[in-house]
Amino acid sequence: MASEQDVRARLQRAGQEHLLRFCAELAPGPRAALLAQLESLEPEALREHCQRAAAACAQPPGPPPDLAARLRPLPPERVGSVSRSDAERRRLWEEEGFRQIALNKVAVLLLAGGQGTRLGVTYPKGMYRVGLPSQKTLYQLQAERIRRVEQLAGERHGIRCTVPWYIMTSEFTLGPTAEFFKEHGFFHLDPDNVVLFEQRMLPAVTFDGKAILERKDKVAMAPDGNGGLYCALADHQILEDMERRGVEFVHVYCVDNILVRLADPVFIGFCVLQGADCGAKVVEKAYPEEPVGVVCQVDGVPQVVEYSEISPEIASLRAPDGGLLYGAGNICNHFFTWSFLRAVTREFEPLLKPHVAVKKVPYVDEEGNLVKPLTPNGIKMEKFVFDVFQFAENFVAFQVLREEEFSPLKNADPAGRDSPTTARHALLAQHLRWALKAGARFVGAHGTRPPELPSGEPPVVCEISPLVSCFGEGLEEYLRGREFQSPIILDKNGVRALDP
Ligand code: UD1
Repeated sequence: MASEQDVRARLQRAGQEHLLRFCAELAPGPRAALLAQLESLEPEALREHCQRAAAACAQPPGPPPDLAARLRPLPPERVGSVSRSDAERRRLWEEEGFRQIALNKVAVLLLAGGQGTRLGVTYPKGMYRVGLPSQKTLYQLQAERIRRVEQLAGERHGIRCTVPWYIMTSEFTLGPTAEFFKEHGFFHLDPDNVVLFEQRMLPAVTFDGKAILERKDKVAMAPDGNGGLYCALADHQILEDMERRGVEFVHVYCVDNILVRLADPVFIGFCVLQGADCGAKVVEKAYPEEPVGVVCQVDGVPQVVEYSEISPEIASLRAPDGGLLYGAGNICNHFFTWSFLRAVTREFEPLLKPHVAVKKVPYVDEEGNLVKPLTPNGIKMEKFVFDVFQFAENFVAFQVLREEEFSPLKNADPAGRDSPTTARHALLAQHLRWALKAGARFVGAHGTRPPELPSGEPPVVCEISPLVSCFGEGLEEYLRGREFQSPIILDKNGVRALDP
């Protein structure tokens, strides 16, 4: 281990010697921990990171003044749509997607390194239960959807196939996520096909470019954003692992959308048949201030303008048809070819510009007191996963239906929006639509029609296991012509009535 003197010399080079100011008074254990943490920070990179953060902070807040002039919606020929295409075309996309899955060429990659601050939980978001009758967590729903899509592709092509699941975690989420998967027997997936890897962390910095001590013996660190994916892929030889398995197409998605379609064959098939190297699923934005990024073009190049970086004026511009001009909402479901990811990790990653987030970062003051600031005092620098779209040779967007594919879990319940309750209702409403379409009928407790309830809550509870159906398929054999009394669960053993 490096001596204090060595570490001090390195920090001097980075202009960050203040990080050692409590070192002398620390007990041997914490002191060693601090020195080890500081030793892992490369001086030149640390200097550059801190300078960059301070410089970015000195810029006036908000989007660049000329953004409006540089922005355009995506040209229509780059945008596919589930609702604007006919059934035959959708069938062709789906068939192609299943074919690629059956050939073991498709992987899914979950971005799960975030801290879930808005939701207010201390454990990884994927472990969250939104209160479904089955008590399933987001991770379990995702695992079961993977198993089902493997089964569907396998049945179509008369083989067994695998969709490997790559999960990017961070220092905050790796331990608990790994533990959770072990505890649950990997939800019956083969552990060899579930690959956890860790993204890097970066120091939080004050407005004048000083890394922040969160304790006397610890620098405040935060994950480097979901665009940290590309460094993490290289750090952990993930592309080599994919190559060994023959993976050519990767569906990257974020953890918190309860309706996410893993390895969605329609999306994969659409992107493959378009010859795309990079693609993004979008939904129509619900309202101008909705906190979703906008998929569009900046200076003629495909890009996402994040919700935190677009002005309210631009966000509310209308197209001639009355819809939002910048209405293609990013739902953080991306398609990448393996070759594109390799080009990014080899060539383009260093060109990605970090984004600045101004945050309240707990710190120790000059006297060594722990302070929880009431106003933002620090900068976190993050790269965004979609910032590589600009390097694509053939970028496509694919518009899907919100009620079928997007209900994110961002906030704790009192928020009333993107919360556990709205996520639960969205999933149960979807399952009810599927059940009714498959011919099920529901009656109230005394044989009456169930009442219509307000506020998006489905009038009856019918939860369908993803192991039975993940796109609404195959439900007739269980449900057609039958009458049920809510609440019910449909799983592999059939329909089960629950206590009301
Ligand atoms: C994200 C998108 C936004 C989109 C919205 C849809 C980005 C940068 N923004 O916003 O355009 O409209 O989802 O719900 O993609 N994560 C990491 N490591 C990190 C930070 C985040 O893996 O360092 C993961 C999170 O665990 C999560 C995903 O990235 O799965 C999205 O992160 P989050 O912070 O929730 O992004 P949003 O602000 O909701």
